[in-house]
Amino acid sequence: MAQQCTVPAVRARKGGVPLVMVTAYDAPTGRIADEAGVDVILVGDSVAMAVLGYDDTLQVTVEDMAHHTAAVARTKPHALLVADLPWMSYHLGVADAVRNAATLVRAGAQAVKLEGGRKRVPVVSALLDAEIPVMGHLGLTPQSIHAMGGFKVQAKDASAARVLVDDAVALAEAGCFSIVLEGVPDRVARAVTEAVDVPTIGIGAGVWCDGQVLVFHDIAGLEDRVLPKFVRRYGSLKADGVAAVAAFAADVRAGRFPNDAESYHLPDGVALDDDLMITALYGGAASGI
Ligand code: KIV
Repeated sequence: MAQQCTVPAVRARKGGVPLVMVTAYDAPTGRIADEAGVDVILVGDSVAMAVLGYDDTLQVTVEDMAHHTAAVARTKPHALLVADLPWMSYHLGVADAVRNAATLVRAGAQAVKLEGGRKRVPVVSALLDAEIPVMGHLGLTPQSIHAMGGFKVQAKDASAARVLVDDAVALAEAGCFSIVLEGVPDRVARAVTEAVDVPTIGIGAGVWCDGQVLVFHDIAGLEDRVLPKFVRRYGSLKADGVAAVAAFAADVRAGRFPNDAESYHLPDGVALDDDLMITALYGGAASGI
């Protein structure tokens, strides 16, 4: 029986066996991630793009995140369940942020993640005061897409790298139990990993992190339209799904589905009278079967 992964257990993995985090947004993806034995399941605001068809993550609300978090939580994963605080849920004041984080905790999250550096320290402190563990997120922070001018690799020069390291130190000192580093050069991620005493979890941040995270739909090949450089695809669920549905359609059109074994039959000894057969065959009143 797998052990429940907890915030202290993740925190203690600094410098140890690399942490594995995967996104999930509903019960089936939650079950897959958990049965695969990941350490952390993230109900990411990437649900906006991976599942809901939006072009960016700015469109999802606290209610959306709670809805998806609850679906994953109902599977009772052994992995630690972290939920993203969406854009505008922690920008309008600490009380608002705590209330919104509590909504995610009541939906089943064991910790929340938020984007941004030292300017988030007051929010991180307020969440910790409310006993809500916080994961940080630095570098290419998708909620800043407009400020960054697109999904672009960050911290590409020495001064931006310095700012990133200082931000990470501020988050760690404020009490974040781990920090996601997204879309930064590998040597910058290494500098951050060496500067903080909490695990860094990278996505597009190279190998020198204390763990790695990818989006479920990218790993499993459910998303096949784009393949960012940092994604490695381990499955082809989209192609498998298209092939399965196409085979079903061909069987239906050829009269091969359903077969006798896939159909219900009247119990032995029950016969329909001629009138009912005619009605069932040529329309009119339902036969009730
Ligand atoms: O929302 C998300 O999927 C994330 C990961 C990319 C870390 O924040």
